Amino acid sequence: MCGIVGYIGAQQAAPVLVEGLTRLEHRGYDSAGLAVLGGSGLKVAKRAGRVRDLAETLPKRFGGKIGIGHTRWATHGPANDTNAHPHSDTAGRVAVVHNGIIDNAAALRAELAEAGVVLVSDTDTEVLAHLVARSTEATLEQRTAEALARVEGTYGVAVAHADFPDRLVVARNGSPLIIGVGDKEMHVASDLAALVRYTTTVAHLDDGEMATVTASGFTTYRIDPSGLSATDRRAKEVDIDPTAYDAGEHDSFMHKEMREQPARAEAVLRGRLDERFGTGHLGGLNLDARELRAIRRVKILGCGSAYYVGEMGASLIEELARVPADAEPASEFRYRNPIIEPDTLYVAVSQSGETIDTLLAVQEVRRKGGRVIGLVNVVGSAIAREVDGGIYLHAGPEVAVASTKALTNMYLAFAMLAIQLGRVRDLSIADGKRLIAALTALPDQIEQVLATEEDLALVAKRLAEAESLFFVGRVRGFPVAREGAQKFKEISYRHAEAYQTSELKHGPLALISSQVPTVAIVPDDELVERNVAALEQIAARGGPLVVVTHAGVDLGDAGASAARIDVPRSARELDPILLTIPLQVLAYHAALSLGHDIDKPRNLAKSVTVE
Ligand code: AGP
Repeated sequence: MCGIVGYIGAQQAAPVLVEGLTRLEHRGYDSAGLAVLGGSGLKVAKRAGRVRDLAETLPKRFGGKIGIGHTRWATHGPANDTNAHPHSDTAGRVAVVHNGIIDNAAALRAELAEAGVVLVSDTDTEVLAHLVARSTEATLEQRTAEALARVEGTYGVAVAHADFPDRLVVARNGSPLIIGVGDKEMHVASDLAALVRYTTTVAHLDDGEMATVTASGFTTYRIDPSGLSATDRRAKEVDIDPTAYDAGEHDSFMHKEMREQPARAEAVLRGRLDERFGTGHLGGLNLDARELRAIRRVKILGCGSAYYVGEMGASLIEELARVPADAEPASEFRYRNPIIEPDTLYVAVSQSGETIDTLLAVQEVRRKGGRVIGLVNVVGSAIAREVDGGIYLHAGPEVAVASTKALTNMYLAFAMLAIQLGRVRDLSIADGKRLIAALTALPDQIEQVLATEEDLALVAKRLAEAESLFFVGRVRGFPVAREGAQKFKEISYRHAEAYQTSELKHGPLALISSQVPTVAIVPDDELVERNVAALEQIAARGGPLVVVTHAGVDLGDAGASAARIDVPRSARELDPILLTIPLQVLAYHAALSLGHDIDKPRNLAKSVTVE
């Protein structure tokens, strides 16, 4: 969603800011803007549309070595030039960019209007610019703190002020803010992606923290009701490959990230498999064997694909550990006043670690005294910091909106958790070893599936012709179907609906026709015969079929017309992930054949940081 960048140093700020904003495009946005501070004061340029449109239309005289920039995802007011950030006060001496939502914006707008201030935009952010401008405190830090003290809600914010031309002030409350230390220059961003081209030495602000950033360094403070107290935040080197944010030889990040899955899968498993005892070795859980044994229930919370992989995880935990487990959309959880039980383990799943619905669900659990662990990809993200322990996913930066490699690693993390929970209960050492061996084989098997991309592309092109599709599966296969439908609709914009195969005959079969294909998940498991019977019902009604299955499965009469995708067999319990991989490739090639922007699907954002 919204993105922030800032620069202060010896270079002209505008090109650096444009570059930073370009690196944040994947987050999703509808308008962009810059403010630079130079000899002739503060200048602002902003407009609806793409960053490149903004860059092409920047005024000729747009010099300044201090600046802030923003990509906006509309929340208060439509996407237009006026509502784009930065926002300024009436005299044009203050510029503010803001991520998050000011909940009491209406009251603050009314108060400012009452005082004679003319507000020009529909946004919540504009009030901040006016509040900073109206403050009579001595320093920019105090003025910003005074303004923020009036605000209820969340923010990552950067402020430039013509009266303080040697600094930017930034602050964070619920929305990430990172400071990057360059060579005689400093950077600011809401996401590492905008910084890594310039520096990998960074400091993450905490909630309630503010910083002064000058060309030579930064100073941090805690915003207390009584004023600002210094904090001792230091910049640290982050272990990140700067090319992680380049698509390289690939036409899109999604393609690159799908292809990275074998290596990333190895990374999440590395050092966490105990072959001798046939168990997982997940130190970050902060739970010893006795505590693991005391768990009576597991509740998994995530959104979108993280929720669907949570369903796969719940089924793994029930099967391997025989502990009741279920997954629930984190976005719904706190609104039903959930009962938090002391012997339930809550598991928050999030690639970004920023998804506000998941973060608020975690806070609801903790507020009621529950224990929550995180399966999170982004190290040091809000959710990672909020939980009692967890498993980092080691998927590397994921840029494409459609999650692929992070989702695979979520599944593998669940598998290790389920095995470890099982091994302190009744999962035998023999079964534990069998599963560990199967996990170890998965990276190569994922590679085998990806190697069939050309064949999958042909199937995908045919699927892309349909306006509407079904994805069906049963038990272990149902969350696979849900995730397949999610990926397909997300980037191909086709209506893709997931159903339990067993439920087709209770209603949706009425929709099956030659125009409505079905992608069926049919692993070689205890349900294979029932699944094949359902395929025959679809085929008999002229419904085109794509069947994701295992070699040797006899598809009966449906086999004659079905497009068949065979994936390698894993341990039966672990089959879902190999069944999921071809569905990613199908979605990708369907979107490609339809000419869509794969990495930036319409209306969607990589990190959903507003409710
Ligand atoms: C996945 O392809 C989607 N873009 C989306 O459903 C995503 O999984 C969801 O928004 C949760 O994001 P998170 O993992 O960063 O919390």
